[in-house]
Amino acid sequence: MLRKVFLTENEMTFPVSGTGSAGMEFCFANLIEPGDEVVIGVNGVFGLRMVEVAERCGASVVQVESEWGSIIAPAQISDALMNRTPKLVAVVHAETSTGVLNPIQEISELAHRAGSLMLIDTVTSLGGCPVRIDDWEIDAAYSGTQKCLSCPPGLSPVTLSDRAMEVVKLRKSRVQSWYLDVSLLANYWGEGARAYHHTAPITMNYALHESLRLVLEEGLKERWGRHEANHINLKKGLSELNLSIASQEGHQLWQLNAVTVPTGTDEAAIRNSLLTDNGIEIGAGLGPFAGKVWRIGLMGYSSSEKNVDKIISALKNLL
Ligand SMILES: Cc1ncc(COP(=O)(O)O)c(C=O)c1O
Repeated sequence: MLRKVFLTENEMTFPVSGTGSAGMEFCFANLIEPGDEVVIGVNGVFGLRMVEVAERCGASVVQVESEWGSIIAPAQISDALMNRTPKLVAVVHAETSTGVLNPIQEISELAHRAGSLMLIDTVTSLGGCPVRIDDWEIDAAYSGTQKCLSCPPGLSPVTLSDRAMEVVKLRKSRVQSWYLDVSLLANYWGEGARAYHHTAPITMNYALHESLRLVLEEGLKERWGRHEANHINLKKGLSELNLSIASQEGHQLWQLNAVTVPTGTDEAAIRNSLLTDNGIEIGAGLGPFAGKVWRIGLMGYSSSEKNVDKIISALKNLL
């Protein structure tokens, strides 16, 4: 079912034990060896976390930065690849801290043209908007269970292409993490002679199994359509309150809406009131967006017309 949701035939597709950050560590730890060059797009908290993780694996990181709220433009990646062939290019697909959807397909083409692998973070995108691992020729991707898959947190679905597995096989050094070493995990997960590696969090596997069943029962396209429709409705309701989305037009996430806080408004007071008086929890802005935006999640089960109506009418009363 994970293959169907990732839209991939990759054999190496399974849930890593741990949250989305474990999937991030898994991908970098297996693909990177000390001294490898890596190009990472940074336009929010999770791009920065990728840099931190890659550096801890010994990578030499080239950061391609964009302002928060803007995309990583393919031209920026193209410039960064002008005189180098990094081992991989890594970009966050749906940047949860800013509400931006990065143009992965174009960036992936550039990465392959340069002879690099393409790694993406799909923690917030999987199940909420198109993620096409095989069509976009993505070599490594990780996700999380608690966002648009609407499952409790605790597993990180990952997928590695055959090209990525070839790179793993050609490693000169051992993967520095025993727990996340894909070769050891493959012996545990695969069919045939199975070797105990670690104790799988089986309750989480049951939960993920059920959530994937629900995703496929709804249908991927129908689910993406629901996220899109609720985003459009939310945007319409916000504009009637003179509120707008802070992220770049044309590249806004359906599942995470970063809303510009009007000048003179106490953003924390509104958020607290939403929570205590209305039972609605929204996110605060992070980093350069702190105090400047509210982040409204409409993910998985919570992406509903009822929830859009609820937040719009609560904001109307409070503002
Ligand atoms: C885009 C993105 N990447 C990575 C993570 C980290 O995932 P987790 O908190 O499940 O470890 C998050 C969590 O919000 C995220 O939104």
